[in-house]
Amino acid sequence: MRRAACQVLLGNWTGSSTVPSHQLYPHQWSWDSAFIAIGLRHLSPVRAQQEVETLLAAQWGDGRVPHIVFNRAVPLDAYFPSPDFWRSSSAGAAAGAPRTTETSGVVQPPVHALAAWLVHSADPDTSARRGFLARVYPRLVAWHRYLADHRDLGGHGLAAVVHPWEPGMDNSPCWDGPLARVEPAAAGSFRRADLVHGSAADRPTDLDYRRYVRLAAEYRDHGYRDAEAPHSFAVEDPGFNALFIAAEYALARIAEALGGEAEPHRQRAAALTEALVERLWSPEAGQFLCRDLRAASGGRAARDGQGGRLVAERSAAGLLPLVAPQLPRPIVRTLLRTVSGEHYGLGTAVRLLPSYDLRGAAFDRHRYWRGPAWFNVNWLLERGLRRHGEEARADALAAEVLHAAAASGFAEYLDPYTGQGRGARGFSWTAALALDLLARDAAGPKPAAAEAPPAASGPAPRIPAPAPVPASEKGP
Ligand code: SER
Repeated sequence: MRRAACQVLLGNWTGSSTVPSHQLYPHQWSWDSAFIAIGLRHLSPVRAQQEVETLLAAQWGDGRVPHIVFNRAVPLDAYFPSPDFWRSSSAGAAAGAPRTTETSGVVQPPVHALAAWLVHSADPDTSARRGFLARVYPRLVAWHRYLADHRDLGGHGLAAVVHPWEPGMDNSPCWDGPLARVEPAAAGSFRRADLVHGSAADRPTDLDYRRYVRLAAEYRDHGYRDAEAPHSFAVEDPGFNALFIAAEYALARIAEALGGEAEPHRQRAAALTEALVERLWSPEAGQFLCRDLRAASGGRAARDGQGGRLVAERSAAGLLPLVAPQLPRPIVRTLLRTVSGEHYGLGTAVRLLPSYDLRGAAFDRHRYWRGPAWFNVNWLLERGLRRHGEEARADALAAEVLHAAAASGFAEYLDPYTGQGRGARGFSWTAALALDLLARDAAGPKPAAAEAPPAASGPAPRIPAPAPVPASEKGP
């Protein structure tokens, strides 16, 4: 299995980063790259460092890390929306978009500091020799500052997402309400490329795409400047903010390793945790919910009171705060019950956590983020269970993830009831996170620090023996 997972990652490597899948996603994606680097570190710590470095090299002057970094060698019609839609280097100039690299203008969840810390921990000597942490730390700080300064649209300390692509769970039913207020772009005004490679039943509908296009074009036409864009879609997502918290704790570890100040990062993580509980916890639902900042006003959110409205849909994003180490214990206990209760059925109705409420009216076991089980979400849940002392449940989930990853040919996502693969196969983060779980328990030598650092065009790394996770990566 390790060999098969490594082969997926070797095949999807382009010389300086990894595509999620050559057909469906032929460029570099932001949160994909973070998860990929977490697995790639077991195969080649140097490539894992390059993965993060390549993404951060496309960071904008205002600190945002774009959700796609385009590969200029890929034809424009291979993916939609293509660089000529986003026009980042011209439309994003005032926001500091790179001049020579084309990117999208929206972001994805900030998993990068966590990835950077885990990548460093896999081989601290090589990391130090290459100055990896010292180079990425200022960029990660600027990225988090962008989220804190430009995206606190609700005014209470959480980062808001302004497009359904930003939380990464593109067409979660949580967006149906907020998206319904967005005027769809004209039918036939663009051509989707995803349906050439993916089944229409597994993908978002055309109507959803018309709204995605409208929102992205509106942002672009305001120069991607958050202070000026109308942001007619603005949501505080518990998954996005939970990953922000985990990343802020990882930044504290990075700062410490560099001899810098860790405390401000811990304080921000604690403040984010408090705001998350205050604004998104629902005792009735037994989980965190999304807050639609435009629900009440229909325009810019009120800056006082809580602002907006909680979205009455249960998505797995509302369980991801389990990765936050300082969550109040009663909330942790409730979340642990919810995971195996009737809405998610983990360990009873299904073997992997579904992306959406099994009993929800919008549940669809095949369609993108409306029910299928995703590997990154399950990897995060496994980590959250372990963090809160649920070792046996974490072990059981890890075993299920590994079984499903291998049985599905490293599928992008799965029917949660049958385990049948959906979407792309040979999907990078599925292979990477399987590799990470395999390494988690394995005995044996750590990947050789002396493993030849592969040059972009150099020989492929050898497939390493299983390696235990270094103790240095444990901790908040
Ligand atoms: N996930 C989106 C897609 O399907 C964009 O990030 O293309």
